[in-house]
Amino acid sequence: MNATPVIELKDVKVYHHARTGGLFRPNIVKAVDGVDFSISRGETVGIVGESGCGKSTLASVLVGLQPPTSGQVLFHGKPAIKRNAGMRKQFGRSVSVVFQDPATALNPRMTIQDILTDPLQIHGIGNATTRAAKVKELLALVGLPQSAAEVTPSQVSGGQRQRVAIARALALDPDIIVADEPTSALDVSVRAQVLNLLSDLKTQLNLGMVFISHDIQTVRYVSDRICVMYFGKIVEQGTAAQVFDNPSNDYTKKLLGAAPSLLHI
Ligand SMILES: Nc1ncnc2c1ncn2[C@@H]1O[C@H](COP(=O)(O)OP(=O)(O)O)[C@@H](O)[C@H]1O
Ligand SMILES: [Mg+2]
Repeated sequence: MNATPVIELKDVKVYHHARTGGLFRPNIVKAVDGVDFSISRGETVGIVGESGCGKSTLASVLVGLQPPTSGQVLFHGKPAIKRNAGMRKQFGRSVSVVFQDPATALNPRMTIQDILTDPLQIHGIGNATTRAAKVKELLALVGLPQSAAEVTPSQVSGGQRQRVAIARALALDPDIIVADEPTSALDVSVRAQVLNLLSDLKTQLNLGMVFISHDIQTVRYVSDRICVMYFGKIVEQGTAAQVFDNPSNDYTKKLLGAAPSLLHI
């Protein structure tokens, strides 16, 4: 494992002004409230917590879509909140994201070939021949038939669409992938396959992976290390075994005692 994390967050806070507040007494939503976090190549870190606890906000900070209200974001050890064009490009290649719903994350009018070529074109990588070869390689990597290149996302199944989104996330050979509830919008029957794919890819490519879910069983299945989030804070972290066998926090105990996973594994 690389000594310097790809991304490190130090005391990161993201506060939103809620619409319900008045001019002199604004209601402030502390979506992320003082989080320290790091992710390196070769490790999967799970983030778990109930809906609204700040997981997606934290994910947006990690992928550079949300500037924090305060705190530090380090990219390969360098301050990265105010990025210049060069660093923005490097950051974009190094950090990829997979969202919950591939139906809305992928452009319905583009063929899968174009969806996978797009990031390479934007970053000016290769020529038409090498890009076409890369698309073939990506399709094989995520277990899609080569014929998928010619169709649009709506012509493949939900599980296959998420494979396309994962392939796109891998197009620029990233260091890390942030996957925000990547299986929550999928049929129960294909969840395990997509999880297995993510976990195989992480090993095969020595990726770092941030795996976010409200479902503690899913997170346990893929993660080396788990962070439990509650009201914008990480209230517990440790290896899957530590968190499961010896939960120190009341909220974690409650999460563990909650309804069994939909994913039977
Ligand atoms: N742009 C925004 N403006 C105001 N409140 C927001 C905004 N984005 C998120 N929130 C609030 O921040 C909290 C955390 O949201 P989110 O990060 O989406 O949680 P999760 O992904 O864990 O469900 C929620 O209370 C949500 O309503
Ligand atoms: Mg979310």
